Formats: sequence, structure tokens, C-alpha cells
Amino acid sequence: MSEQTQPDNLQPDLLLSEHARKNRAMWEASSDSYEERHAASLTGQNAMAWGLWRVPEAELRILGEVAGKDMLELGCGAARWSIELARLGARPVGLDLSSRQLRHARRLMAEAGVDFPLIEASAESVPLPDASFDTVFCDWGAMTFCDPQRTIPGAARLLRPGGFFAFSTATPIQFLCQDMATDRLTDRLINDYFGMTRLEWEDEVNFQLPYGEWIRLFRKSGFVVEDLIETQPPENASSTYRDANETAWARRWPMENIWKLRKE
Ligand SMILES: C[S@@+](CC[C@H](N)C(=O)[O-])C[C@H]1O[C@@H](n2cnc3c(N)ncnc32)[C@H](O)[C@@H]1O
Repeated sequence: MSEQTQPDNLQPDLLLSEHARKNRAMWEASSDSYEERHAASLTGQNAMAWGLWRVPEAELRILGEVAGKDMLELGCGAARWSIELARLGARPVGLDLSSRQLRHARRLMAEAGVDFPLIEASAESVPLPDASFDTVFCDWGAMTFCDPQRTIPGAARLLRPGGFFAFSTATPIQFLCQDMATDRLTDRLINDYFGMTRLEWEDEVNFQLPYGEWIRLFRKSGFVVEDLIETQPPENASSTYRDANETAWARRWPMENIWKLRKE
């Protein structure tokens, strides 16, 4: 294994927010079972695919031409996206908070015979210089688990002028219908829309904003919104992340979305 693939920026705990420490502990503990459960749905032609139902990038065309681009993946996990991007001639960097997740990334990189930097750090404080990237992206990675008040300005700082930022995560609509007592999705508006910021479980914290707040934060950070793709699972789709009832829910209402942003 080359030096380049060693995590080269271990962040001391002191630099991590309380929720980042909680999420990291969860990911350290669940990394191997996550890999066991989802590896097949994240592999092969699904490596470059979006979200819970793995809609192919070839269909959505979110990232566009990637060859020759400097690309940062926020919360890369086992770095399957970045491995494929390297094969296509991009220069990816994978960033993740979990050393266990990055261990899976190094294993898959060695198997694929590709090499690129992996950074063990929080997406809330990325230890890389300003204007280092043409593209920052995230497929249900760090953006789900981080405070957007830190990651959105952070992504703007890391991008060059005209750079592109895309991330997929849950929708505010899902947040409204999430019954925290049963951990089930309902067809009722249970949680308040105004003031939404985070969903908190015993071992995990997720973040969300009302639509208007997302847009104001993007604009304040120097982004223009190019699109908001609300993905709907194809008919008869199945997912290793969601059961049949949840898939039926997502056929009716948007459960996940992909923001496409351009730095001015
Ligand atoms: C659901 S996984 C998705 C990873 C990858 N996209 C995949 O599909 O396998 C979420 C990833 O986000 C990472 N993560 C969570 N909080 C993070 C943070 N604050 N900074 C960087 N990565 C974080 C986790 O360690 C985990 O690898």
C-alpha cells in the first residue's frame, strides 16, 4: 500500500463537534455490518449510482464529464464512487470520518489497482486548501450527518470559481413524517416544519433544513441552485436500505433528493 492511501490527516477529537463524535462512534461500530449488508448493491454497475435505490449516474447525469477533474467525495465510505471516477480519469480525494470505513476503501482500492488520497476527517472542517477542487459531491455520505451551516460554506471554500457541488440525502418531507417514537415513516405530518434542524437517535444525528433555509444558505455561501432532483424509486424497485413499505412511501412522496449547485 502506498503512503498516499494512508489517512494523512487524523483529526483530534477536540476538533470534532459532539454530533460528529457520536456519528463516528456509530460508523466505527457498524462499518463491517454496513459493508456486509450493502456491498452488493453498491458494486459493479451500481458503484456510480445515486441513493437508496441506486439510480445510475448514466441515467441522471449529475456529475457530467469527470476526466481530468479534481473531485472531493464527502463521506466516501468504502470509496466505490471515487474508485470508478479514478478509472474514468478523474483525480478523486475520498474523505471520511470513520477509520473503519476507510479501511474498506483501502481494501477496494488495492483490489481495483487504483490509488488516490484518503483523508480521515470530518466534512465539517476539511483540512485541505481553498479552491482545491472542480467538484465536491456526496451520495448519502457526510451531508446527511453534518451541520449544513458548516458543510455548505466549507464546500464553497474548497471549490474553484465555477465549481460544482452535488449531494444526495433525505428530504425535508421525510423529516416531517418520521415518527421518532416508532422509528417508522408515516403518512402524517408529525414533526414541525419550521425550525427543523436535526433528527437525533441514541447513537446517530442527521441534519435537515426547510427548503427556504437551504436555498438562503446556498446563496449566502456563493452557490447558485442548478436543480433539485427528487428521485422516485422505479416501479418494483427494491433496496437494501429501505423495506417494501418505505419503498411504497417513496413512490408517493420524495424520500431523497439530490441538490445540484454551482459556485459563482
Ligand atoms: C451511508 S454511508 C455512505 C457512504 C458511501 N456513499 C456509500 O454509499 O457507501 C455515510 C458515510 O458518511 C460518513 N460520515 C458521517 N459523518 C461524517 C462526517 N462528519 N465527516 C465525514 N464523513 C462522515 C460515515 O463514516 C459513512 O462512511
